[in-house]
Amino acid sequence: MCGIVGYLGAKDPKEVIVGGLKRLEYRGYDSAGVAILDGPKSDLKIKVVRASGKLSELSKKLETEKFSGHLGIGHTRWATHGVPSERNAHPHTVGGVSLVHNGIIENYQEIKAELVRAGAEIKSDTDSELVAHLLAAKVKETGDLFKAVELILPRLTGAYAILAMWEKQPEVMVAFKNGPPLVVGVGEKEMIVASDVQAIISHTNKVVYLDDHEIALVKGSELQMFSASGHPIKKEVTTINWSADQVEKAGFKHFMLKEIFEQPRAVANAIAPHIDLEKKTVEFKDLGLTSDQLKSIERVFIVACGTSFYAGMAGRYMIEELSRVAVECDIASEFRYRNPVIPKNSLVITVSQSGETADTLAAIRLAKKSGALTLSICNVRASSIDREAHGRLYMNSGPEIGVASTKAFVSTLAIFNLLAIKFGQIHGFVGADVQATAVDALLGLPAQMETVLSYDKFFAESAIKLKAYRGILFMGRGINYPIALEGALKLKELAYMHAEGYAAGEMKHGPLALIDERMLILMVCPSDQNYEKTLSNLEEARARGGKIVSIGTGDNHELKTVSDDYLALPKASWMLNPILAAIPVQLLAYHVADAMGHDVDQPRNLAKSVTVE
Ligand code: G6P
Repeated sequence: MCGIVGYLGAKDPKEVIVGGLKRLEYRGYDSAGVAILDGPKSDLKIKVVRASGKLSELSKKLETEKFSGHLGIGHTRWATHGVPSERNAHPHTVGGVSLVHNGIIENYQEIKAELVRAGAEIKSDTDSELVAHLLAAKVKETGDLFKAVELILPRLTGAYAILAMWEKQPEVMVAFKNGPPLVVGVGEKEMIVASDVQAIISHTNKVVYLDDHEIALVKGSELQMFSASGHPIKKEVTTINWSADQVEKAGFKHFMLKEIFEQPRAVANAIAPHIDLEKKTVEFKDLGLTSDQLKSIERVFIVACGTSFYAGMAGRYMIEELSRVAVECDIASEFRYRNPVIPKNSLVITVSQSGETADTLAAIRLAKKSGALTLSICNVRASSIDREAHGRLYMNSGPEIGVASTKAFVSTLAIFNLLAIKFGQIHGFVGADVQATAVDALLGLPAQMETVLSYDKFFAESAIKLKAYRGILFMGRGINYPIALEGALKLKELAYMHAEGYAAGEMKHGPLALIDERMLILMVCPSDQNYEKTLSNLEEARARGGKIVSIGTGDNHELKTVSDDYLALPKASWMLNPILAAIPVQLLAYHVADAMGHDVDQPRNLAKSVTVE
């Protein structure tokens, strides 16, 4: 969590850094700050401006500020150590050294005790400031920031991405990391260091990703890369194919709304590289895993967090049904600590939009250690998880800015469709006809999604009514159960309303006791093999006074009659229904949260990329 930006070049560092932080606010928004060189050329000094609250508070403070230097760093924070406040905001500056940090220094207590014993004056409650003290002491000794970093590195344990500058070296920035991401944008006579390419893309599309235990030394307009022990290393320069306007709102009120409306395109982009249009088959050309390897798989584990986990849950239904390969689904933070039994011939699939979620990254490392093959489904190319996996499939959703994931979710569901078809074919359960029908259905899906989006007005009307209820129970069966979970999650994170997702068949084992006229039941009930059973559950809830909103297929009179509100989806196969049903549950949560005046793109206490466990 936390966003880092640093700039060295001819442009105004204030503008570049604040612009970059704006793109990174999804990583945290408790406080923000900048440290930029200022003063006469011969005596440049670090000037720090920090503010509690969102970036807009910092921007207000910076309105009248001018800086004469060409080097600066900035930070937007998601608090781990120390409450969100100006005092704890980054950058932290000690003895002319300023730094910004993303992560957690685990041995901070030991470092703090040592610094206090040596008489250091600690001004904040953060672990990050302690690193600034260590660096300040070492630049005094060595007269060089890079050497100072090398010397303090062995002292740090935990997860960190740190960017530092020293006012005595106005042409130098040093970045180093273990865990959270860092990228250097290599521009024309300018360098930008950031947590994510989104902060860089409007300046350059040439980037170098730092791996763990590497140090980036930016010196003037040059980038030099080193191992933690100071040996020069060669790194590849990657060209990013996102454009700057892909990260703007394009006329929508919120990024989240824009991203919901981008979903048909996201799904089309996710499936396009893997479909042979002539043969109507699924072909994974750059998977990184061979057909023989896929054939050898006897057990699949799907591991992820949050919305990505729910996409994985739906994937399990698809793979098991089409290929008869056993699939287990795990929340990454559970998987990594429960000492999982991973038998021979297992494939561990991780799902992560950002490719940086700390628990998911740890899970994939654990899987590799235990000898499993790994496959990453992720959106951000060259992210940590992407680089870690043996094989990879991309969501191809384009940048997702809204903290609550939407388009990455539906893209992942589409990818699981492809994987299930492929596994089914490899294991001899999916013949050419079935494959061609499934491929045709997938190709037609974006148009069906457009149709669902065109009902937005009705979803908005329905959403307003949700406010009146004490709680909302989202229910579904089979592959629509994860959609119920996702619907409840969206309502919690955006509208801060109490909502639960439940398997409809479990209602009799508890939730039925909750039902009265102040409880709303949202039943995800499209026409599939579970329809009749789900309908019975709906009747049970209705008989106990619950108000019912149902999501069904087409003009379903039966469902309409037993529902207070009915939301229609186009007719689709059972594997595609969840992709269509995701749209109304997202839009319901979006509209109710917006009507309540909440910041939909940046819900309180959350962050998009959870790079700490
Ligand atoms: C955070 C985000 C969610 C996201 C989850 C997993 O909680 O707010 O929207 O689903 O992280 O993120 P990932 O990048 O691994 O998919």
